[in-house]
Amino acid sequence: MAKTFALVAAAASLIHSVTAQCTTAPNQTYDYIVIGSGAGGIPVADRLSEAGHSVLLLEKGPPSSGRWNGTMKPAWLEGTNLTRFDVPGLFNQIWRDSNGVACEDTGVMAGCVLGGGVAVNSALWWKPPTRDWDVNFPEGWKSADMKSSVDKVFQRIPGTDTPSQDGIRYNQEGFERISEGLDAAGFKQVKPNEQSEEKNMTYGHSTFFIENAERQGPLRTYLETAAARSQFSLWTNTMARRVVRTGGRATGVELQCRNGAGFNGTVNVTPGTGRVIVSAGTMGSAKVLFRSGIGPTDMLNVVKKSPIDNETMISEDQWINLPVGYNLNDHVGTDIQVAHPDIRFYDFYKAYNTPIQTDVDAYLANRTGMLTTVAPNLGPIIWTEVTPSDGRTRSIQWQARVEGRTNTSMTITQYLGTGSISRGRLDITPQLNTRVVTVPYLRNATDKEAVIMGIEHMRGVLNGVANLTWVTPTAEQNTTTFVNSIPAALASRNSNHWVGSCTIGPANDGTAVVDLDTKVYGMDNLFVVDASIFPGITTGNPSAAIVSVAEKAAARILALKGTESEDGDV
Ligand SMILES: Cc1cc2nc3c(=O)[nH]c(=O)nc-3n(C[C@H](O)[C@H](O)[C@H](O)COP(=O)(O)OP(=O)(O)OC[C@H]3O[C@@H](n4cnc5c(N)ncnc54)[C@H](O)[C@@H]3O)c2cc1C
Ligand SMILES: *[C@@H]1O[C@H](CO)[C@@H](O)[C@H](O)[C@H]1NC(C)=O
Ligand SMILES: *[C@@H]1O[C@H](CO)[C@@H](O)[C@H](O)[C@H]1NC(C)=O
Ligand SMILES: *[C@@H]1O[C@H](CO)[C@@H](O)[C@H](O)[C@H]1NC(C)=O
Ligand SMILES: *[C@@H]1O[C@H](CO)[C@@H](O)[C@H](O)[C@H]1NC(C)=O
Ligand SMILES: *[C@@H]1O[C@H](CO)[C@@H](O)[C@H](O)[C@H]1NC(C)=O
Ligand SMILES: *[C@@H]1O[C@H](CO)[C@@H](O)[C@H](O)[C@H]1NC(C)=O
Ligand SMILES: *[C@@H]1O[C@H](CO)[C@@H](O)[C@H](O)[C@H]1NC(C)=O
Ligand SMILES: *[C@@H]1O[C@H](CO)[C@@H](O)[C@H](O)[C@H]1NC(C)=O
Ligand SMILES: *[C@@H]1O[C@H](CO)[C@@H](O)[C@H](O)[C@H]1NC(C)=O
Ligand SMILES: *[C@@H]1O[C@H](CO)[C@@H](O)[C@H](O)[C@H]1NC(C)=O
Ligand SMILES: *[C@@H]1O[C@H](CO)[C@@H](O)[C@H](O)[C@H]1NC(C)=O
Repeated sequence: MAKTFALVAAAASLIHSVTAQCTTAPNQTYDYIVIGSGAGGIPVADRLSEAGHSVLLLEKGPPSSGRWNGTMKPAWLEGTNLTRFDVPGLFNQIWRDSNGVACEDTGVMAGCVLGGGVAVNSALWWKPPTRDWDVNFPEGWKSADMKSSVDKVFQRIPGTDTPSQDGIRYNQEGFERISEGLDAAGFKQVKPNEQSEEKNMTYGHSTFFIENAERQGPLRTYLETAAARSQFSLWTNTMARRVVRTGGRATGVELQCRNGAGFNGTVNVTPGTGRVIVSAGTMGSAKVLFRSGIGPTDMLNVVKKSPIDNETMISEDQWINLPVGYNLNDHVGTDIQVAHPDIRFYDFYKAYNTPIQTDVDAYLANRTGMLTTVAPNLGPIIWTEVTPSDGRTRSIQWQARVEGRTNTSMTITQYLGTGSISRGRLDITPQLNTRVVTVPYLRNATDKEAVIMGIEHMRGVLNGVANLTWVTPTAEQNTTTFVNSIPAALASRNSNHWVGSCTIGPANDGTAVVDLDTKVYGMDNLFVVDASIFPGITTGNPSAAIVSVAEKAAARILALKGTESEDGDV
């Protein structure tokens, strides 16, 4: 049964992607409907379909990578199977032109294309240290519980620190000069994903989910194995408006076409046993839940009074009061900037429309050269740990890039990670856009103390580099004054690593939205699997941790007995 219907759906999907028209969803049911194809959604959809279930993956955005018939590309990629999402040297283009790529309904940057964040990000790929699980996650999700999931992820996506196919790392002057200072200060150079526990006084080359000098990651591995199965279907340009539910039982998903394509109408889960997984990202999953009548009453009232949903919203007696939107977090980013006469800026922005021809030729012919480098030439990546006056150790990751005020500058972003305690909140506007209403950055004094300690330390380290000059802070500036001079605001501190909003926790006690099986409290068959369930932020850029969480969640969901007894079915 599932097989026949999946073929119908796949054909419909193909037709819509070719003719670009809005189509009413076929009358077909699925064992699982997964909402959102990001770092969480793709792996969970793959594992559920691997277990033999029929799975429909919904993505509101258009295809991204050329592998999935994406079309967004500069002229010099015409006639190739590549798009802007595939070529590492073009990843930075998101900051120049995010039209039709970035979500329009989130107050912060997020990818709204097939692959979500893992289609638009810098492809940095870090094996999470055990501390990330042990400090942040509840029972059942500690490092010992996560080990097999993390191992599975790194078997499929090992990552590389040498994307260019000739094994050469290009324009390494910045890496080398900074490393001199690190070496002199006693830092140890590591292979970050082979020595993933060594997160204090260490550094290494950037490690990316790139292969063949093209973006790989979940879009290549997990989505390819899923797409090869007849019981798997993918509908792009199709937005989940809300989960259709009767009390605690989700029966389907109401759809909306997007970009003049995709599906509308309602698609249902298999009666009695079907399940819905929300994987729409930290900002997107909260929105889907709000529109489905799940969240704090103040947020649900905004939806109820909105011009878009108003009387079509599920009635108030069905609302489920959960802390959706709270516990929001992100790495607090604090930029320092140095300059050195050896450093050379490569203009990755110009590479989009007016690239250097020899670099284009090397990339297209051999997958070598500067365009195999993720823009804007990232590295070194450095790890330190500091323990401020509350005795709680904070992990810090430093991410250097060759970009700044002059063409010999480097910006080094300090990310405050695991151990940070400040949290914020997101809300929804009457236009149904989610936005950060309480910025999580540095709300607690000891987090700021950690930031200052870290920068004070790094200034001393980099002062050991001959001929290095300070851009910000200036050589004379007091570190506390410097940190205080940067507002704890989105514009100056945002790291695009949003987590929280649908937090996982062992009890329905007002602090958690999903239980230890990632099931929404008060629901029988609705789950959330993505960055939004993270109780705290990771040490490094989070995508590998999110894929690991998706692996774990899929295993737990598959092991979870159905709760269809409520309907009288078995
Ligand atoms: C510019 C940028 C650079 C980054 N760099 C890195 C990096 O180098 N390394 C790293 O590890 N992390 C990086 N990150 C963070 C990382 O990409 C995210 O943390 C991760 O992708 C989040 O995964 P997710 O599954 O929670 O959500 P997402 O990956 O955001 O996926 C959510 C998906 O759901 C879709 N969606 C939303 N609402 C709906 C709906 N109603 N119906 C249907 N579909 C919907 C969205 O279009 C999107 O495709 C970066 C992020 C950004 C934005
Ligand atoms: C959808 O399919 C079900 C089961 O096959 C059938 O009972 C129902 O009438 C169909 N609905 C529509 C609108 O075709
Ligand atoms: C493009 O084609 C090459 C050669 O067949 C292949 O190795 C590569 O994976 C393809 N890339 C994409 C993004 O489709
Ligand atoms: C991409 O387009 C080709 C040619 O039209 C088609 O055969 C293929 O099924 C499409 N793939 C996807 C994922 O839509
Ligand atoms: C879906 O879109 C089609 C084509 O625009 C339209 O005819 C149909 O009424 C829509 N269905 C729903 C349920 O909105
Ligand atoms: C309620 O929603 C309908 C349909 O979406 C819309 O036409 C109408 O203007 C809305 N009403 C209010 C009061 O916002
Ligand atoms: C930096 O830019 C200046 C002026 O644009 C140029 O003269 C100089 O050669 C550049 N230096 C490097 C190292 O690229
Ligand atoms: C590609 O590699 C081959 C073999 O090393 C070399 O001969 C050729 O010049 C390279 N092409 C380009 C455009 O760099
Ligand atoms: C990290 O290393 C520094 C320098 O050796 C040391 O002072 C500090 O105690 C270490 N932090 C932790 C948490 O081990
Ligand atoms: C952090 O600050 C918030 C807001 O002031 C406060 O409610 C919370 O208790 C603090 N957390 C800790 C761990 O001190
Ligand atoms: C520092 O700069 C001076 C003057 O340009 C130069 O002579 C010297 O070699 C440089 N030292 C290093 C270690 O780069
Ligand atoms: C900076 O100035 C403050 C007083 O404003 C002082 O307490 C502190 O010790 C100075 N140094 C650093 C590293 O912040």
